[in-house]
This record gives sequence, C-alpha cells and structure tokens, in this order.
Amino acid sequence: MNTTTKNILITGGAGFIGSHVVRRFVKNYPQYRIVNLDKLTYAGNLANLQDIEEADNYSFIRGDITDATFIDELFNTQQFDSVIHLAAESHVDRSISSPLEFVLTNVVGTVNLLNAARRYWSDKLDQCRFYHISTDEVYGTLGETGMFTETTAYDPHSPYSASKASSDHFVRAYHDTYGLPIVISNCSNNYGPNQFPEKLIPLAIHNIRNNRPVPVYGTGENVRDWLYVIDHAIAIDTVFHRAENGKTYNIGGHNEWKNIDLIRLLCKIMDKKLERASGTSEKLITFVKDRAGHDLRYAIDASRIKAELDWAPSLQFEEGLERTVSWYLENETWLNNVTSGDYLNYYEQQYLHR
Ligand code: NAD
Ligand code: TYD
Repeated sequence: MNTTTKNILITGGAGFIGSHVVRRFVKNYPQYRIVNLDKLTYAGNLANLQDIEEADNYSFIRGDITDATFIDELFNTQQFDSVIHLAAESHVDRSISSPLEFVLTNVVGTVNLLNAARRYWSDKLDQCRFYHISTDEVYGTLGETGMFTETTAYDPHSPYSASKASSDHFVRAYHDTYGLPIVISNCSNNYGPNQFPEKLIPLAIHNIRNNRPVPVYGTGENVRDWLYVIDHAIAIDTVFHRAENGKTYNIGGHNEWKNIDLIRLLCKIMDKKLERASGTSEKLITFVKDRAGHDLRYAIDASRIKAELDWAPSLQFEEGLERTVSWYLENETWLNNVTSGDYLNYYEQQYLHR
C-alpha cells in the first residue's frame, strides 16, 4: 500500500481499543488524516483521547453507524480511502439482556459502512482498505485442549458473538461478491488502561479498591487468552499496513488464564499497591450465578500473524496487569466519572442481584 498520505475513518475511536488505535495512528503517522467517528454510547469517552484532541491530523465526529444516510453523506464529504472499523456493542452480558442493540450496531452498522465504501470506492478500489476488527468469540468455545486458527469454523454462542460473526461474514461477502478490499482480524480478550469497568479486569480493580464483592461467574474455571491493549493496537497497525486484501489474522496473547486464577493474581497485586495485608482482597471474591451460554475456553493460535507479518505480543502478563492496576489507581477521576449516574443502576442490576 502507498503509505505517504491517507484519509482514514476510525469508527469507535472513543472506546477502549479504538482510543489506543486512534492515538497510535495520530502520533505515528502525522501524514495521515484521522477522523474518529463515534456515537459516544456509555462505552465511548472522549476523555480517553484528551492528549491528542488538538493534533492537526485528528478530528472527531459524533455519529451513529446505524444511520445509513448519515454514513453515506460522511463518505461523500470526507473522501475516506480507508476504514478501521471498531465501533460495536461489545459486552456479552449486555447482549444477553438487549440482543437487538447488537444486531443494529454490529450487523446493520457494519453493512452501512460496507455499502458506503463500495459506493465511494468503486473507481479506486486498489487504493482503498476496509479493515474490520473482530473477536475470537466468533469461533465459539474450546474444550480443555486446542486453539482457534483462522480456519476454525464459526460457532458463536452469545448474541454478541453471533452479531460479530454475522458482521465478519458480511465483510467477507463484500470482498467475494463486489471485490471490496477488506481485511479482518479476530483478537482475544484485551485488557489495559481505559477499559470500561463492566469487563472483568477493570470491574475487579474497581470493586477491590472500594472493598466491594468481586463477582466470579460459576466456579471461575472459564479460560480467556489475555492481550495487552497496546499490543493489539500494534497488531492492528501491522495488519492495516501489511496484510493482503481478503486475509484474516488471529491475534492473541499466548496467555491463557482461568478467571479465578487471574482474579487471585489481581488481588495479590492490589494488596501490594494498596498496602493492604496479604490476603485482604481475596476475601472479596464472591462466586455468583453463571452467565447463560458461558463459553468455557478461548485460546488463539497466532502463528499466522507471527510468520507472515512478524507480530507477537511484547508484554508479559504480570507486567501488563501491574501497569493496568497502576493506571486505574492513578486515574480515579476517569473511573469515578464512568461509574457514576445511570451506569450505577445498571451495575447494581447486572452484578449484585444475579
Ligand atoms: P468498547 O465498547 O469499549 O467501545 C466501542 C465504541 O463504539 C464506543 O466508543 C461506542 O461509543 C462506539 N459505538 C457503539 N455503538 C456505536 C454506533 N452505533 N455508532 C458509532 N459508534 C458506536 O469496545 P472495545 O472493547 O474497544 O472493542 C472495540 C472493537 O474490538 C469491537 O468491535 C469489539 O468487538 C472488538 N474486540 C474487542 C475485544 C475486547 O477484549 N474488548 C477483543 C476482540 C475484539
Ligand atoms: P468479560 O470481561 O465480560 O469478557 P468476555 O465475556 O468477552 O470474555 O469476561 C471475561 C471472563 O470473566 C468471562 O469468562 C466472564 C467472566 N466474568 C466474571 O466471572 N465476572 C464478571 O463480573 C465479569 C464481567 C466477567
């Protein structure tokens, strides 16, 4: 690809992963123009991007990808040549209580973007790229052994993963049917600064700090493969610039943890950082009713991206977790802002009265 100038639409750039991707692109590629389109749902937070909001090559537009007319006009006026699509409803528990939101944003929103790209790129397909960011959850669940590869059959179980699987299929269909220049990556669980505290790690940090119960679903035996968010942003940068059109890459941390072991490690780190007696935080662990349809184990075989694009995770988990805990403890205002108001009601319903 020509890397001299680009006009890139990043969707969902005010969210957790999106904000790290926006920052990386704005800082590392001053020759690119970066437009961040985000609806600012409960998960979108412009405070995540305060340090780069004045950059010359960056602008923010508030808007909804489910609005086809708006998306069409945006492509017409902004002349994008690339899309990095992260906007999504992203939380499995919310998808169980409100599946339709997930169909609208994750499926219809993605198809709106594909339609606009197809319409405005028809005479310059070779200069364009539509990069769809997806999840390993589309592959369903593993037993005790094995790993997801790029050829593992899709078998989603939650409304979230079903909506992401559907969007992946649409993205590939637009490549196969219309020749749209697409790439897809499917990543494992991310953790790090700016993650909304509905997800396991920031939720546990927040609760431990406030001496509240730390809810562990079922017996805590479920396994996730954790990747530091900045390593994911580096992988996205790599795939965006170097992947061949039509390709899929799995991205993962080679870092499987049972939820209960991860929470115990986090408790130890928190005891140290908060100068509490050893074992204090572990007393907050509370086993609660299991999530419906809870996938047992995710694990990514990331050998393709290593072999073809020379990407591998850079950070050891213990170090990443320590950095993450420090970030949340040093950014109390961020955490207090996102956990106040309406969110608290949701939080009560979702986690304390299961
Ligand atoms: P997030 O929930 O933190 O952020 C999503 C962002 O999308 C928010 O800023 C939100 O305001 C925006 N958004 C939601 N609906 C929108 C709409 N209709 N129009 C415009 N913007 C909208 O999510 P995240 O964890 O940063 O995930 C980003 C992407 O990466 C998602 O596509 C997700 O499926 C994928 N992913 C996430 C993980 C993970 O562990 N978090 C792992 C693999 C893949
Ligand atoms: P989560 O962070 O929601 O990510 P995902 O469901 O996309 O993997 O959950 C990670 C794991 O932690 C998952 O197995 C569900 C579990 N979990 C809990 O045990 N307690 C919690 O409060 C949350 C939010 C998740």
